[in-house]
Amino acid sequence: MERALIILKPDAVQRGLVGPILTRLEQRGLKLQGLKLMQVDEALARRHYAEHEGKGFFAGLVSYITSAPVVVAVVGGKPGTVELIRAMVGATNPAKAAPGTIRGDFGVEIGRNLIHASDSPESGEREVAIFFRPEELIVEWGRAADPWIYE
Ligand code: RTP
Ligand code: MG
Repeated sequence: MERALIILKPDAVQRGLVGPILTRLEQRGLKLQGLKLMQVDEALARRHYAEHEGKGFFAGLVSYITSAPVVVAVVGGKPGTVELIRAMVGATNPAKAAPGTIRGDFGVEIGRNLIHASDSPESGEREVAIFFRPEELIVEWGRAADPWIYE
């Protein structure tokens, strides 16, 4: 099963948007494998966003993601799920994100863009491993709706 790490960033939690955002993912038919509220510390933030180290926005990004609790989730599905989730999330800058996407419906600025989603299946595996211990995940579980979502 292909899977993505989702982070509902501090602004999503502070604004009471955890439910509405998770609802969208659930309604689409995606399946949770893990879910928790946590505080990201600086070391974890730097590790997660290592590809952006050295960029002008890096310090602000680390301070944003560590500023208050986040909700992290692992969401999985058939091949193509990571791309499907990224399409639901929308462009990095909410001002440019299409209406109907999460960022396009809930955000206005790039530094407060509400949600992280893994950008490839490989990133998904890397990121899931740094945020969750294996015993925190339920990778395969039967869901009554599965045959109504997947052919
Ligand atoms: P994310 O990793 O959080 O899912 O976002 P993304 O793939 O859409 O965008 P990415 O390029 O990976 O950037 C990571 C996060 O850094 C912040 N950012 N700020 N001020 C800026 O120019 C700028 N560029 C990026 C955003 O919070 C973005 O989500
Ligand atoms: Mg990214």
